Amino acid sequence: MEFSHPKGTYDLIPFASDPKDRWRSSYLWHHVEKFIKDCCALYGVKEIRTPIFEKKELFCRSVGQDTDIVSKEMYEFQDRAGRDMVLRPEGTAAVSRAYVEEKLYISNPIQKLYYIGPMFRYERPQSGRYRQHIQFGAEFIGSNAAEVDVEAIDLLYTLYSNLGLKGLKVQINSVGDAKARSEFRQALKDYLAPFAQNLSADSQTRLEKNPLRILDSKDLNDQKILENAPALENYLSAECKEHFARVLFLLKQLNIPYIINPKLVRGLDYYHRTVFEITAGELGAQNSVAGGGRYDGLIKTLGGPDLPAVGFATGLERVIQTLIAQNAPIPNKPTTDLFLIGMGDIAKETCFLLMKELRTANISVEMDFSSKKIKDLFRMADQLGAKYTAVIGDNELLNKKIAIKDMASRTETTVPLDQVVHFFHKAQ
Ligand code: HAM
Repeated sequence: MEFSHPKGTYDLIPFASDPKDRWRSSYLWHHVEKFIKDCCALYGVKEIRTPIFEKKELFCRSVGQDTDIVSKEMYEFQDRAGRDMVLRPEGTAAVSRAYVEEKLYISNPIQKLYYIGPMFRYERPQSGRYRQHIQFGAEFIGSNAAEVDVEAIDLLYTLYSNLGLKGLKVQINSVGDAKARSEFRQALKDYLAPFAQNLSADSQTRLEKNPLRILDSKDLNDQKILENAPALENYLSAECKEHFARVLFLLKQLNIPYIINPKLVRGLDYYHRTVFEITAGELGAQNSVAGGGRYDGLIKTLGGPDLPAVGFATGLERVIQTLIAQNAPIPNKPTTDLFLIGMGDIAKETCFLLMKELRTANISVEMDFSSKKIKDLFRMADQLGAKYTAVIGDNELLNKKIAIKDMASRTETTVPLDQVVHFFHKAQ
């Protein structure tokens, strides 16, 4: 019986040589994760890790019963005690749950938290869309200042810039408060009712339960019908308008380019006021590289204090695929400093001990323990990208000296066995 990975998932492997799979090379993920951790440290954002499964009810209450994520895309199961559980489809609800449960607000209501981990959505797999994807997300809980909305966007924008991503577009909108959304929802429903039969099948389904999502329909006929639809901005309260204006002002101050997209509503119910998405040309308009926004009521809904919050999440598959597509500066595959070849049992033992001595001195070394031919061993050294090789045989054992070959210049240096660490420290 042959096994393959579940549909919509993938393996990360040390080095994927096929260009279309290069994003699945784990060393590229380490590169991006290091940038994320450095950037979070710079912005004072601390790591939080929550379980990958949670009670189903958590997401029904926060993301919303009628959203695509909750109604169609969750991996649901009953545990052995019959509890309804899900593999988490997103991180905001889980982090908010942990914030409330751990009473993080007692020491300081303002908490800046980040996570990197898998999320699960039963979506139709396609390029850039997976059933298990990895998100880097950050949640800034406890402040309603427009500065914090911009701090979150700035962190993400700085991260992308540091990584070398180009052609980024921040699309931004305000979805106002609950009152504005409920009035607008009704107005939109009233406007769309006479066109109901002409809407796409998806939009017809959404008309009753989630009409706001019709706004970001990609169907051309839907878009035409929407041309004269009521505008959400006309329903915003003075406070929401003022907040949004300040966010835009601060983005300008930080030189973060943005486009106001009045149709941007996002597919999760918890949003309040600011919402945003970031796209990168190469992925196509449907595939945002990041999304986020303010969710002021959520902490209270989950039983915590009435505290505001704002955050974002970005799919790392899309980030890494875009870096590759844009020829951004990504590191070369990692190499080893030295590949040791021992000719005969005693030489192999000497190599083994030398390898340990060098590794203790922080020098990366590899050797092979099978009885491969010397030609194959050099091929192995090549595959590992060894910077140096050294062959130890009877002569080397007798003279206690080895010839270290620089694989790039093809030059050799003879070094006493007890000076090899010194040689590499000098070479580094
Ligand atoms: P989201 O827009 O659903 O927001 O997802 C955030 C990002 O995750 C997307 O922009 C995309 O890069 C990536 N993503 C989502 N679904 C998939 C998928 N099936 N395959 C690959 N990548 C995917 C949220 O999840 C919110 N929790 C973001 C947030 C945090 N809002 C406030 N705080």
